[in-house]
Amino acid sequence: MYKTNINELALFGGTPIFNELLHVGRPNIGNREQLLARINDMLDRHWLSNNGPFVQELEQKLAGYLGVKHCIAVCNATVALEIAARALGLQGEVILPSFTFIASAHALQWLGITPVFCDVDPLTHNIDPMKVENLITQHTTGILGVHVWGRACHIEKLSSIAKKHGLRLMFDAAHAFGCTLQGKMIGGFGELEVFSFHATKFFNSFEGGAVTTNNDELAEKLRGMRNFGFAGLDNVIDIGTNGKMSEVSAAMGLTSLESMDQFIETNHNNYLAYSSGLDGISGIQLIKYSEKEKNNYQYIVIEIDEGVTGLSRDLLVKILHAENVRARRYFYPGCHQMEPYRSNFPNAKLTLPETENLTLKVLQLPSGTAVGEEEISYICKLIRFAIVNEAEISARLEA
Ligand SMILES: Cc1ncc(COP(=O)(O)O)c(C=O)c1O
Repeated sequence: MYKTNINELALFGGTPIFNELLHVGRPNIGNREQLLARINDMLDRHWLSNNGPFVQELEQKLAGYLGVKHCIAVCNATVALEIAARALGLQGEVILPSFTFIASAHALQWLGITPVFCDVDPLTHNIDPMKVENLITQHTTGILGVHVWGRACHIEKLSSIAKKHGLRLMFDAAHAFGCTLQGKMIGGFGELEVFSFHATKFFNSFEGGAVTTNNDELAEKLRGMRNFGFAGLDNVIDIGTNGKMSEVSAAMGLTSLESMDQFIETNHNNYLAYSSGLDGISGIQLIKYSEKEKNNYQYIVIEIDEGVTGLSRDLLVKILHAENVRARRYFYPGCHQMEPYRSNFPNAKLTLPETENLTLKVLQLPSGTAVGEEEISYICKLIRFAIVNEAEISARLEA
């Protein structure tokens, strides 16, 4: 139901537009029969974990798809980041953006490495290479770039800074499966890259992730570290953890892979529907994906310029949530505003003006296979309605 006056808003007691919650990143499910057949195979084999045949098949297929030499499947991207940072020998300080999911920072802190937050480029939302060099100290050992929303970091500049200062370079590519930079798949940049196949990612293995690299030595190290540091039976050569991907996750990963093109097509259509639905609303900008690159279009991200709309991002969130549209304020409030970083670096925000600004205006809208053109049309019309009627809505809230 479209709203014709503010009394009809669910915020003011009206009936919500949607009966069911519309989520950001509701899991995509591929071919159910295929998945169940794989699970049956797995049960028949009695091989449930420990580098089983599905894990090996998934690794091989992913490496082929990404055009990298090695793919090491892991139980999730957070553990993958930890293993990756340790395999690279990172210690002391590592430079990364604060505008990322908390796991990027936690993985470092978990290893006793100090995350040093760098500001982002307001246009790309990615770490600003121009600001990285200022943060390098004698304790810096590496740079962790994050391809936010699947849009690649400025890899060339980051690589030359890393080279110049003798730093190791890795990427958190949790958002970027299926995306390219200058036609080359993300997965082979830096010394290694880390993907997430969490349920909310467009390609999922329930929980899961992978580290990809073209470096043979690193790959061997990563494989060992994923498996408690074992190198053969009864022989532990390094400190390791349990980062293994289970067979059931790999079965889901293989099944997701078969439907991936379809998921991307749905996401792309949704992106185009949002793009036309939001077209012409002053103060609302949908982030752009280069048509020259491959994108997974999983992230429908808008920036709300309150100076133009009059409507704050947070009031829009309240309005949307009341209508059962679970829009999310990623990455609010920024890693530097969360513990333990907020206490460890109380002045960090002074050096992160663009990050601070973005965390106040960015909003992610529902997409994926659970959302179609009709829902998107309703959401866009609701946003338009909220902005047009902002003064009346605010006055009613203040009354
Ligand atoms: C940028 C980024 N890094 C890391 C992660 C952690 O991934 P996982 O949930 O697989 O541990 C996420 C998950 O959402 C993410 O968005």
